[in-house]
Amino acid sequence: MHQNLTSIVAIDRHGAIGCQNRLPWSIKSDMAFFRRTTMGHTVIMGRKTHDSIGGCLKGRTNLVLSHNAVLFPSTEACRLVNSVAETLAVADAVNCTETFVIGGAATYAEFAPFVDRYLVTMVSHDAPDADAFLSQQIRAEYSQWTASQIAEFPAKPGQDEFAFRIMSFVAPDADERREMRKAIANQFLAKRPNQANKTPKRRGSFDTSSQIAFSF
Ligand SMILES: NC(=O)c1ccc[n+]([C@@H]2O[C@H](COP(=O)([O-])OP(=O)(O)OC[C@H]3O[C@@H](n4cnc5c(N)ncnc54)[C@H](OP(=O)(O)O)[C@@H]3O)[C@@H](O)[C@H]2O)c1
Repeated sequence: MHQNLTSIVAIDRHGAIGCQNRLPWSIKSDMAFFRRTTMGHTVIMGRKTHDSIGGCLKGRTNLVLSHNAVLFPSTEACRLVNSVAETLAVADAVNCTETFVIGGAATYAEFAPFVDRYLVTMVSHDAPDADAFLSQQIRAEYSQWTASQIAEFPAKPGQDEFAFRIMSFVAPDADERREMRKAIANQFLAKRPNQANKTPKRRGSFDTSSQIAFSF
């Protein structure tokens, strides 16, 4: 299966994405967009984002990156992966049309060469004390891609702390990026042929034996 690979991220005016392993804002409408967009698909996240969320996301196949191979026992819904190559191989084998990189900063950077689209929520705010950023290099790169605005929201007390707009950026070399992902996945599987048998199927219902699932 040759899915698209999209990084989905919310940034402030300077690229800030996090503060003390949390989002620096409360924007419910963007959370709803995130949930709608990723539901039923595969999500890739770093271990710190997994900690921040408090577990895996319901209704999605979760791939959690860590160097710790025994961090938690993998289930069909929430799979521990130990490298970018393994993540690409596992994601490639899931029967769904799209895979999303959902953060955080280190994970966006690692997958940047392979991503063929960014969905970026641009928050009209300067987050104080931010300590996690979407790199300047990534922001400069997608700025050159084909851009379109998906939605624009005003601030709304009790709902959306700040105004924001959601942009899509599509890579001009998406086909090459897909081929590169496939080549890396195949190299990984050639070295570890048993891995293909361990790949999760597309999520139908959430496996309740998995970890806590956060509500977005
Ligand atoms: N605004 C947004 O859209 C958004 C979205 C998501 C997250 N965030 C924010 O981003 C921040 C977290 O970002 P972060 O950069 O600190 O952490 P992260 O990317 O979430 O997680 C980093 C961890 O992932 C694992 N990892 C990454 N690459 C790996 C590789 N190639 N092989 C094996 N393991 C790998 C490592 O885990 P181990 O240490 O276990 O080895 C690493 O420490 C938080 O503030 C969070 O709230 C913001």
